[in-house]
Amino acid sequence: MKAYQYRMGEPISALQIVDLPMPKVGPGQVLVKMHAAALNFRDIMVVTGQFPRTAQEVIIPLCDGAGEVVEVAGDVTTLEVGDRVTPLYNQRWMAGEMQDADTAYSIGGCLDGVAAEYRVFGEMGVLKFPDHLTYEEAATLPCAGVTVWNALHGPCPLSAGDTLLTLGTGGVSIHAVQLAHAAGAEVIVTSSSDAKLARAKALGADHVINYATTPDWDVAVREITGGRGVDHVIENGGGATMLRSIRSTRRGGWVHIIGLIAPGEIDPVHILLSGVHVRGQEVGSREMFAAMNRSLAQSRIKPVVDKVFAFDQLPEALGQLGSGQHFGKLVLAIP
Ligand SMILES: NC(=O)c1ccc[n+]([C@@H]2O[C@H](COP(=O)([O-])OP(=O)(O)OC[C@H]3O[C@@H](n4cnc5c(N)ncnc54)[C@H](OP(=O)(O)O)[C@@H]3O)[C@@H](O)[C@H]2O)c1
Repeated sequence: MKAYQYRMGEPISALQIVDLPMPKVGPGQVLVKMHAAALNFRDIMVVTGQFPRTAQEVIIPLCDGAGEVVEVAGDVTTLEVGDRVTPLYNQRWMAGEMQDADTAYSIGGCLDGVAAEYRVFGEMGVLKFPDHLTYEEAATLPCAGVTVWNALHGPCPLSAGDTLLTLGTGGVSIHAVQLAHAAGAEVIVTSSSDAKLARAKALGADHVINYATTPDWDVAVREITGGRGVDHVIENGGGATMLRSIRSTRRGGWVHIIGLIAPGEIDPVHILLSGVHVRGQEVGSREMFAAMNRSLAQSRIKPVVDKVFAFDQLPEALGQLGSGQHFGKLVLAIP
């Protein structure tokens, strides 16, 4: 079968399609014919050595994908041939809080990922996805989608009428716009592009701020919320944006630390004085993924796929992701 393989330390341009042996199904496992894989900023971090977890020396990259079950082991009871599934980002985190032992089980980094024609997973390592989604749309869910679900519906659930601020218009942020809007929240989005902000409004964003032309965007957020501040922030930036995110948040509100795009440092005194909750998180569990799928099936939300690349265009697709021109998700078709 064809797959991408990446050796740590090589440039993205060195990513190559190779022939690998067809994976074999063992007890409790299923064989999945992958049909699509979605790209995440995290994939760039993996292949440039910035991923904050130990990655395999040689890996099949990409963590987000969708495919069809084509073979099941005799002892598999919950899946059958023909099921349309998405592999879990973390193959071991099933429910509750993530445990330290789970952290080495993310695919497309610690374990082989989905940029391959076929992959074998444990029965509990994949989930059926809602019928109204295409493979390309479903491929956006395991990392970016579940991350947003964890932030919005984790230990501090968002309620209808709450305000949510989400930074940028990449994969995570656009999932946040759609899911928070569907949950009845008032949504504020920032972007460096007015054209992208117009697209975010069409998806349900209530307020938009261009952070390039409004560098004091935290002041604008306070004005929009009548001085109160938002209840939740999807903090996709990092150290460089965190102080403004905290200043955008009401006392007792939640800043979900998700992204590491804009590095920087912050003095903890700002957290202390603001009285906000700052919560780090790594994607989410199978239980969260299943809850999100039920919600998507009900709301009929379709994730935003900005562009689909051919399988042999992965280096080019990662280059486009790094340039930040996209809106929502970039996806790789797997023939
Ligand atoms: N913790 C987790 O579980 C988890 C899970 C998924 C992703 N992540 C992280 O979350 C971040 C976003 O991931 P992604 O896949 O959505 O990335 P992405 O699709 O590449 O989107 C990145 C977007 O961030 C915006 N951006 C860049 N610099 C910014 C700044 N200084 N201020 C505000 N926005 C800025 C840009 O939006 P505009 O073009 O609109 O300006 C850009 O399109 C990444 O750091 C990724 O590693 C973490």
